[in-house]
Amino acid sequence: MRVSPDDHLTIGEIVRRTGVSASALHFYERKGLIFSERDGGNQRIFSRHMLRRISLIIVAKRLNIPLSDVAEVFATLPADRAPTHMDWQRVSRVWKKQLEERRRAIENLEHELTGCIGCGCLSMKACLLLNPDDALRDRGPGPVRLQEPGVAPVPDPSAPKGPPRTAHTS
Ligand code: FES
Repeated sequence: MRVSPDDHLTIGEIVRRTGVSASALHFYERKGLIFSERDGGNQRIFSRHMLRRISLIIVAKRLNIPLSDVAEVFATLPADRAPTHMDWQRVSRVWKKQLEERRRAIENLEHELTGCIGCGCLSMKACLLLNPDDALRDRGPGPVRLQEPGVAPVPDPSAPKGPPRTAHTS
C-alpha cells in the first residue's frame, strides 16, 4: 500500500497530538482498537483518522465506558478509512444509550440508599414495609436492591399501605 506522509503520522506525532503514551497506544493496538502500518523504513505509522479513534478512547475512559465496549463499537467501524458522519452518529447513539442506562441506575441507587436495600437485616423500620419477611431473599444474597438497580420500584414507605407483617430475624 502506498503511504502518503500527509495521511499518516508516526507514533511520536500521535503521542504529541493525543497526549496518550506510546505504551498505551501499543496496548490499544493489541486490543484491536487502533491499527498501524509499516513505512518503507519499517517504522510504525498510523492513518490520520486513528486520531479520532484515540480521542474517542480518551472520552470513553472519562465516561468510564469499558474498553471492551469501545472495542465492540469500533468493530463496526471501517478500519481502512475515516468513518463517515453516519458511522460516528451510530457510535454516539450506542454510548448515549449506555450513559442513559447508567444514569438511571445511579438514580435508582441514590433512591434505594435512603431506604431498605434488601440485604436481609430487616433492621430499619422501612424494611418491614419494603421487605416484609425478607421476601427479597428469593432474589439472591446481599443487598439485592442495590445489585439489581431498577428491578423493583421502591414503594414510598410513607404512602398508605396495609399493616406490615412482622419480620423474622432469625
Ligand atoms: S435494609 Fe436490610 S433488609 Fe432492609
